[in-house]
Order: sequence, then C-alpha cells, then structure tokens
Amino acid sequence: QAGVRPPCRRRRGRGEAAARPALGAAGAEEGGGGGGAGRSPPAGPGGGPPRGPSPRRAGPVYTVNLRVLWPLATAFCTALLCLYQALRGGAAGEGAAEAGSVPLLKGSALLLLGCLLARCCGGAGGGPRPGGVRLAGSAGAQREALERFYARQLRVSPHVLGHSKAHVGRVVAELVRAAKVQGLQPGPLALSLRGDFVRIGSAYEQHKVRSPDCFDILVPLRLPPHLEPQPRCAERLGSHGAFVCGLRARGGWPRRYRPFAEGFCVELQGRCHLSSALVLRWFQGHLQRCLGAVRYRLQERCRISLSVCPGRPPVLHIVPCSDYVCCHISMAVRLIPAIPIGDALYLTALPPADPLPTPAPEALWGLNASRQEQRLLSWLKEQAPASSCHLKCLQILKGLRDLRGQGLEEPFSSQWGRVLSSYVLKTALFSLLLQGPLEAWDERFLLERLEDLVLYLRDCLRKQVLMHFFLGNTSLPEAVALPRFLKEATPVNLLAAFDGLMLDLTAFQLINTWIQAPHIIRMYSSPRYLRPMPTPCRHVTEARQEPAEE
Ligand SMILES: *[C@@H]1O[C@H](CO)[C@@H](O)[C@H](O)[C@H]1NC(C)=O
Ligand SMILES: *[C@@H]1O[C@H](CO)[C@@H](O)[C@H](O)[C@H]1NC(C)=O
Repeated sequence: QAGVRPPCRRRRGRGEAAARPALGAAGAEEGGGGGGAGRSPPAGPGGGPPRGPSPRRAGPVYTVNLRVLWPLATAFCTALLCLYQALRGGAAGEGAAEAGSVPLLKGSALLLLGCLLARCCGGAGGGPRPGGVRLAGSAGAQREALERFYARQLRVSPHVLGHSKAHVGRVVAELVRAAKVQGLQPGPLALSLRGDFVRIGSAYEQHKVRSPDCFDILVPLRLPPHLEPQPRCAERLGSHGAFVCGLRARGGWPRRYRPFAEGFCVELQGRCHLSSALVLRWFQGHLQRCLGAVRYRLQERCRISLSVCPGRPPVLHIVPCSDYVCCHISMAVRLIPAIPIGDALYLTALPPADPLPTPAPEALWGLNASRQEQRLLSWLKEQAPASSCHLKCLQILKGLRDLRGQGLEEPFSSQWGRVLSSYVLKTALFSLLLQGPLEAWDERFLLERLEDLVLYLRDCLRKQVLMHFFLGNTSLPEAVALPRFLKEATPVNLLAAFDGLMLDLTAFQLINTWIQAPHIIRMYSSPRYLRPMPTPCRHVTEARQEPAEE
C-alpha cells in the first residue's frame, strides 16, 4: 500500500530526548499530526538499515495492465500452437496436417474471444465516455478511481507532514534568530528582521499533495524606526495587481535616512520608493552570511544549505541526519522576505516570470494575502460540516492537473500549469464555496462538487475572467478584514495575462481531463510514469533551472 507511510522508528535514546520537545511543540502549533509522533510504536525489530531519503517511494503499486496482458497471452499461445503445428506438419502427411488445423483455429478463436471479453471488463471502469460529462451508470466507478488516486498518490500522511513541519519550524527559527541578531550590527538605519516568520502555502492549509517536501515561509522585515511603508496600487504604471511602496518618515524626511534610501530605494515620480529587487538582494546576502553559524549549531540534527538565484527568494535545503527523525525526507523551504503592511498582509517581490511593465519594475511589489486566505479557510472550516470535502476536491484537482500536464506537448504543457496554477484553483474554490450552502460540500457529494468546480473553472476560462478574490472585492465575508485601500483597489483578473486561444485550449483539456479521469489516472500512474517523481519540488526545479550566480 503506497498510501501508508512508514511508522515512527527511533534508533537511539539520545535522539529521542533531543527530538521530543520539537515534536511536542509542533503538535501544539499545528493542532494534530506531529503531536502523536513520540508515542507511535516502533515498527518491527528496530535497528534496521537507515531509511532512504524519501519514504514516498516506499511502495509504488505495480498493477498488471489487462489491456496489454491479454493480447500478449493470445499472441504467445498462438505462436506456440503454430510451432507445434509446424513440427507435426513436418513429420506427418498433408492430410493429417489439414485435420490438425481445425482444433488450432478453434483454440485461437476461443482465446481471441477471451481477450475481447477481458478488454471489455477492464475498460468498463473508465475510458473516454461519449456525450455528457458523466454518465449516471459510471459515477460509482469514477468516484472509486478518484478515491483510490487520492489515497495512494495525493494524500500526505499527517504523521510525516507533522515531522516535516516541526523540523522546518525548528531550523527556520534558528536561522531567523541568527539573522535578526546579526542585523542589529550595521546600525538602526538599515533593514532588519522582525524576528518571527509566517508559515504559508498548501502545507499549512491542509491541501498539500504528494510529499511534504516543499514549504513557503514569509520572513517579515522591519524598516528603520520612524519610517513607515505606504503601499499604493500601481495602476498608473500599467500593472494590475502590483503595488508600489512609498515611504513616510514621521516628522519629515530628514537627511539621516539618506544611507537607507541609497541602499534600498528607487526614485519614482520624484519620490523615494522601496525597491523589491534591492530588498531581495540584501536579504539573500544577509541569510548567506548567517548560515555558517546556524549550520554549525544544527549539525547534529541536519545538514542545511541555501540556494540563491537572482530575482527569486532564497531556498533553504534541509537534509535531516539519519538518527534525528524517523521520516527522512529532504525539504526545500522558500524563505520569502516580506514587508508587513497591516494585519496579516505583506508585500513580496513579484515573481520574475510575470511580464513586468517597463518603468521601474524593481519598484513593484505583489500583495501576499496568504495569511488572510488561511483565516478564510479556517472560517469556512468552522461553517462547513465536519466531513466537508472542499480541500479534498482541491487536492484531487491539483493531482489531475499534474497528471494531465505530463502527457501534454511542451509549449502547451507549461502554459497548462501556469493557467491552472494552484492559486487559480484555490480562487475558484473560494468563489464556489461562498456561493452555495456549505452543507452541499459534505463528503458524500465529492463527485458532484468536483464536477461543479471543473465546470466553474471551464466557464471562467471561456469567459477569460477569474477575479482576484481579495483585491477590490467589496462583499467579502466579515471573517476577512481588509484595509480600505485593498477593498477599494481596482479588481484584478487573474487570467488577464494569457491569450484567448490558450484559455480555450485549457478549458477544452480541462473538461477532457475530467471526463477521462479514471483513464488518465491509470495511464500515468503506471510504474513507468511513477519512477521519475511526478512533480519534483517546485523550489528545487526552479533552483536548478537558474543556477546560482553569486
Ligand atoms: C503568497 O506567497 C505564496 C508563497 O510564495 C504563494 O504561494 C501565494 O500564491 C502568494 N499569494 C499571492 C496572492 O500572490
Ligand atoms: C467577493 O466575495 C464574495 C464572498 O463574500 C464572493 O462570493 C465573491 O465571489 C467575491 N468576488 C470575487 C470577484 O471573487
């Protein structure tokens, strides 16, 4: 069973003593998962060989493909019979050979019939279906295929996830503490770390799929005292959804801020603005300088390294030492420098992939409302029935997107993933969730809700409009409290950057993927496709594509 993660295994008493506080802390933080780790019974006789780096590979499921097996068997038997016939034909006369070929024909016909029957039975579970999106008779089979897909390939074991989170929390806390202390030395007129960190992304929103090996963490920065960020929408610069960050000094803009302005600001319309590029570069260098001390302090627990690409947040790689935790997954943690601009809202550098407008792209920032999204999700969780399947729907849809993406040709393949980004899927889910009664999201209706989500996305793609859920939305539920400048911002279309043809193609492929889901799952889940990890950690691939220059 591939879905079952290896149970806890501890090899040394010393490691246990060291590990326990961390795991206990994680249990308290995350409210489940890691907390039970210390109490899990050891698996089998202890002291086995050290586990490989990635338990998710422990058991790819090998299934016999009936479609291939039966024709092969038929061909093999026919060949055997022919050989037998030829040998006999050589020995006996013409007449005898004539008589012998009758049972041969009968045998072959029977085998062929068997083969056809087997193919029909094997194919009944899925395969492309004509007509409507779903035929009533096959709903059970489709649901079964999706459930199996979820359990075997998508679901992340809470145990392993708890361990990974605890580990990441420990290491990042050390690094941030070191970076904060060191930041105080250059003097009060530089940037510094606020000293905390904010866990965001799917691993912390309970919709991570596959393996708990990628994490996103915001690292809030602090401006010099008496200097305040003043974010504004950057519409006049022609970029929707981007912000500029002006600065206001209480009591005027005295000359003593000059060193700060020279180090971190660009001039825009005659005024000083915080530059995302300069801040990011400073942050990268700063973390690199602190890494040595932290690496030394953590050497008993893990090996850490930092990869730095220009224009991207640095990625911290963590490889746990073999005796420290039981689940030896190596982890990649994106550390994103963030300027706090209000309650649970941050400005972060825009990803370099976005087409940026020409004037001063280094002055532009993106809004990161991940913490607000977490609040919305927990608010929804309270309102929805206990067995609500909305997160499972999101996970399954992400899984299908990734599977389908493997079978597409290149220019379309990367666009497919970019159009149907996790953020787009999540936004669609939010809109749909807030439309209807939340009782409808009970686990029993998984298939119906998933289909709703697919159809909703299809309509958005056809209309080429999916609005940002937070920006410029005046009717947000009261659980999310946004400052006025965001509520009054111009609404942002998340699909505006893509051309119509691409969106049409994506809509078509999406429906296709949904209709053929069981077939696609079967096809791309064969060992041949499972061997190279379906989607290696995004952070790692990004780092590989652009090797560090510094
Ligand atoms: C915030 O940052 C996380 C991590 O990089 C990212 O997944 C998310 O999409 C960002 N949110 C927005 C609104 O850009
Ligand atoms: C704005 O928020 C409401 C929920 O209060 C939601 O139903 C609606 O879809 C949101 N608008 C957009 C454009 O996302």
